[in-house]
Amino acid sequence: MIEFVPLDEPLGAVVTDLDIDAALSDSEFTKGLADALLKHSVLIFRGSDIAPAELVALGRAFGELEILPEPDKRHPDHPEIFNLTNVKPDGDIAEFDDSQSVFLRGTQRWHTDSSFREIPALCTMLYAVEVTKQGGQTEFADMRAALAQLSDEAKSEIEQLSLVHSYEYSRANNPGRMDPMSDEERAKYPPVEHPWVRTHADGTQSLYMGGHASHIVGRDEAESRRRFAEIEDGLVANDLVYQHRWRAHDLVVWDNRTTLHRLLPYDIANERRVMRRITVAGTERVR
Ligand code: OGA
Ligand code: MN
Repeated sequence: MIEFVPLDEPLGAVVTDLDIDAALSDSEFTKGLADALLKHSVLIFRGSDIAPAELVALGRAFGELEILPEPDKRHPDHPEIFNLTNVKPDGDIAEFDDSQSVFLRGTQRWHTDSSFREIPALCTMLYAVEVTKQGGQTEFADMRAALAQLSDEAKSEIEQLSLVHSYEYSRANNPGRMDPMSDEERAKYPPVEHPWVRTHADGTQSLYMGGHASHIVGRDEAESRRRFAEIEDGLVANDLVYQHRWRAHDLVVWDNRTTLHRLLPYDIANERRVMRRITVAGTERVR
């Protein structure tokens, strides 16, 4: 059985010396992964050279894989792998305002992946192929602890509230200019409502929010966003964050149910950052 060793950090656990073939043929492994994900929120596999086919197999151990809409960013042999990179297919680095970089810069806000979907992603896996020298870390925030830190008064109010998550909203607020949504996209991703406090299979609860959350249902947008900022701006100060400094061949899996994450800025027009991303689909509505 694989062992996850908790980091000396607010969240996260690490596995060293992963033998993928052995792990994937162990029937206990899949169950162990699901439990470890819910318990530690961020799982780090350090220094294993993971081939694309192995990455896909490991992803399947967590659940069904999403195939992201952008065909030009798919790995040629494995459509489940999304090439998350500022390097263009011709090998040059994309310019700061190129749509490829603008998209990547959108991940610099605290968010949880695809919360604008009715059934948002379960977890996301990122495997580092080429890493930056400066900046480009990924931060993860423990949103169970963020809920626990609220005053009793705030907690009992927030428990009653739902948030509107909208891809149209988050896209319009991207740090760079993204193309406006087409009618087809708008029809595909209508705004959805999720409870602000999310309850998990083990009975624990966390705050479910982030960059796709437009406003509190029934409340003023400006007031809603002030309250989101208050919580999100406090995550680092309140010591709820683990910052992952990437090394090549790191694989990090984060639980989108219980954490928020963000990319820290780096010199995106000059430094190469090449990651392979896999998204594991969720199986149930937020409750
Ligand atoms: C993502 C994401 C952060 C990073 O792929 O969803 O937020 O560090 N990535 O690249
Ligand atoms: Mn993300």
